[in-house]
Amino acid sequence: MHDELKKKAGWAALKYVTSGTIIGVGTGSTISYFIDALASMKHEIIGAVSSSETSSARLQAYGIPVMDLNDVNILSLYVDGADEINKQLQMIKGGGAALTREKIIAAVSDCFVCVVDSSKQVDTLGRVPLPVEVIPMARAYVARQLIRLGGRPEYRQNVVTDNGNIILDVYHLNMSHPIQLEKSINALTGVVTVGLFAHRGADVALIGRAQGVQVITKTTQNSDNIIFYSDA
Ligand code: 5RP
Repeated sequence: MHDELKKKAGWAALKYVTSGTIIGVGTGSTISYFIDALASMKHEIIGAVSSSETSSARLQAYGIPVMDLNDVNILSLYVDGADEINKQLQMIKGGGAALTREKIIAAVSDCFVCVVDSSKQVDTLGRVPLPVEVIPMARAYVARQLIRLGGRPEYRQNVVTDNGNIILDVYHLNMSHPIQLEKSINALTGVVTVGLFAHRGADVALIGRAQGVQVITKTTQNSDNIIFYSDA
């Protein structure tokens, strides 16, 4: 069931792809469906930048050119999944350990479209642990600092990120002020990135539901969200 909803959301993101552009592509099972969809119009786009080796391999298998972000000046669209998303379109990401590259591409992009199934929607972030990418030699130090912030960090066993670092998954953090928490964790020496996407959240969320795809758009003028349904 989740897979069907992920597929709907992934394919719905195709509507945001403009011919003649380079597309930012994230990581995960929902994004695999988006890559399948993107392949159906691969001759219309210039190529993609990707947030992981896994997504790059899938794109290349379809013959979609994968470009270096340093060679790209404008990225109008980034499509990625999330482990949780709230009403303000802030997210927890990093379940697939690709959070750092995801955050870099999100920072460069004009529009971040988040594709999820409905199980990922929450009122308050924090049901899932918060991934933090850490330089290996700083693991114990960062873990102690995360405990001081009220969290319970767990070392993700047998995982090395594409950047050669480790992941701490942090439980029990107070997420009532996500932007402040993101800043505090990013400021810890040895932290590469925290998987809290609060400062730069998504601009649009496409949420796969049994009835269709719910589109939530964050307006630039106020914090109200527009909700409607469209065919997936
Ligand atoms: C990878 C991510 C993914 O976007 C997140 O884990 C969601 O994955 P899926 O689409 O498989 O549920 O942040 O680092």
